Amino acid sequence: MPDNDRVYIFDTTLRDGEQAPGFALNVAEKVEIAHQLARLGVDVVEAGFPISSPGDFEACQRIAREVEGPTITALARAVPQDIDAVWNAIKDAQRRQIHIVLSVSDIHIDKKGLGTRQQVLEKGIAAVEYARQFCDQVEYSPEDAGRADRDYLYETVEAMIEAGATVINIPDTTGYTLPWEFGGLIGDVMRHVRNVGNAIISVHCHNDLGLAVANSLAAIDAGARRVECTVNGIGERAGNASLEELVMILKTREKLLGLKTAVDTRLLAPTSRLIEARTGMHVQANKAIVGANAFAHASGIHQDGVLKDKLTYEIMRPEDVGVADTRIVLSPRSGRHAFRHRLKELGYELDEAAFGRAWDAFLLLADKKKEVTDRDLQTLVADEARLVPERFKLDLVQVISGTSGRPMATVRVRDAERDGEMLEDAAVGDGPVDAVCKAIARIIDVDSELVDFSVRAVTGGIDAMGEASVRVRNSAGQIFSGHGADTDIIVASAKAYCNALNKVAAEQPAVSVPAGSGV
Ligand code: KIV
Ligand code: ZN
Repeated sequence: MPDNDRVYIFDTTLRDGEQAPGFALNVAEKVEIAHQLARLGVDVVEAGFPISSPGDFEACQRIAREVEGPTITALARAVPQDIDAVWNAIKDAQRRQIHIVLSVSDIHIDKKGLGTRQQVLEKGIAAVEYARQFCDQVEYSPEDAGRADRDYLYETVEAMIEAGATVINIPDTTGYTLPWEFGGLIGDVMRHVRNVGNAIISVHCHNDLGLAVANSLAAIDAGARRVECTVNGIGERAGNASLEELVMILKTREKLLGLKTAVDTRLLAPTSRLIEARTGMHVQANKAIVGANAFAHASGIHQDGVLKDKLTYEIMRPEDVGVADTRIVLSPRSGRHAFRHRLKELGYELDEAAFGRAWDAFLLLADKKKEVTDRDLQTLVADEARLVPERFKLDLVQVISGTSGRPMATVRVRDAERDGEMLEDAAVGDGPVDAVCKAIARIIDVDSELVDFSVRAVTGGIDAMGEASVRVRNSAGQIFSGHGADTDIIVASAKAYCNALNKVAAEQPAVSVPAGSGV
C-alpha cells in the first residue's frame, strides 16, 4: 500500500522529455540516464514509447533489464500492438507497469476523429483489460483531462479503475489550467469517483503558462500522491513540471506540507548536469534549484547578509542539492583514490574505463586551472564518462585567427576502428570555430549538417571551463547532439562537434574517411 505521507516521483525525462523537438538521445545515453535516475531515488522511470521506433524499444528493454530499484514503465496508446510492444520491452524489469494514454476531452475526441465518448470509453476499458492480462500494474492517462467535461472524466476514471487500472494519471496536457482550478479538479475526482480509493492518483502537468510545478503542488494538496515530472523541466513545448523544483519544494516546506519523497536531493545538481550534457539543452542561469545563479548572491546587501548568516537570504543549503561551493583541494598529487572518493561524494559511480577517462581529463584540467571547482568536475565527468565508446577521438586542434585574414584550423583525430590511425586535415572558415568544424567534417565524412551550436562558460573567472553543445541533422532528419567541455572554448567546440559526428557515424556504419588524410 502506498504511504500517504509520501509523494511518489514518476520521472518521464526519457519519454515526455525526450519527445521535445531536437532531442536525440541514443540507446546507451538513455540507459546511462536511467541508472542515474535510479541512484537519484525516483520511484518510477518512464523509459520511452516502444512502438515509436526500434531504438526506443531497445532502450526500454535495456533499461528494464539493467536498471534496478524504480518501477520501469513505458507508454502505449490504447491499442493491442502498442501494449504488446510495451510489455515485450519492460517485462524483464523487477517492477514494471504499463502506461496507457487515450484522450478524454471533447476537442481531442472530435478533432482526432476518435468516435463518440462511449466508443472512447469502451476502447479505454478494452485496453486496460488487455494490459492487465500481462501486468498487474497498469496506469491510465485520460489525455487532456484539464479541458475535459467533468462528468465524462469522472465516468472514465471510474470505468478504468473498474477495468483494473491501478494508477489514474490526470494530465493537464496543454498546460492550460490554473493552480486552484487544477487542485479543484483533483479534489473533485477524489470526491466524485466512487472507487477512487482503489487506485493511486497521479498528475502530469505541462508548463505552457509556466504553472506546471504550481499545478502539481495544488494537486498534491488536493490528495494526489504521485507526480510526473522531468529533470530540468524538459519536455514538449514549454516542458513538464520540473522534478528538482517539486522535490525541493516538498523538502524545504516539509514542516508545512508534511510530505516526503525518496529522492536523494544531493544528486539533483549532478543529474541536472548529466541531462544538460546529454541533451545539449542548457539550463538557464536563473533556473530555480539547478541554475548556475540559483545560489549566487550578487548585490552588496545580500552578500553582507549571507556572510553574517546564510539564512538571511538562503532558504536551502546549496550542498543539499549537490551544489557544494567547496574549492576542491584535490591536486594530481592527491591520487586516484581521493579523486574517486570526491566523485562518489558528488554522486558519480563510474566504471573503470569511464573513471580512467575522467582521471586523465582531471589531470589535464588541474594543469590548466588554478582551482578546480565541483561544478568543473561535474562538467568534466559528464563529458568524459560517456558510456558510448567513440570511434573518432580528437587528438589535436590548432587555430590561427586574429583581426586580419581568414581563420585557419588544423585538426588531428584518432580513428579507433583503424588501429588508432591518426587522420589530419585543415580548413579555413568564417571564424575559428567554423574553421575547426570544417576541418573535422573533412576527416569524419558523415551525412550531417550543423543545425545548432552554443557555447557558454560553466564557472566564473578567466580560466573558466567552457561548454559547447551542437546539434547536427542527417538527411533522414535524425538529430544528433554533441557536448564538449574544455578551458579553451574552441577545443570545447571541437569536442562537441566530434561527439555529435561520432553518433552519426555509429548510425551510419560505412563511414568514409578521405584517402590520404592519415598521418
Ligand atoms: O501530456 C500528456 O497528456 C501525456 C500523457 C501521455 C500522460 O504526456
Ligand atoms: Zn505530457
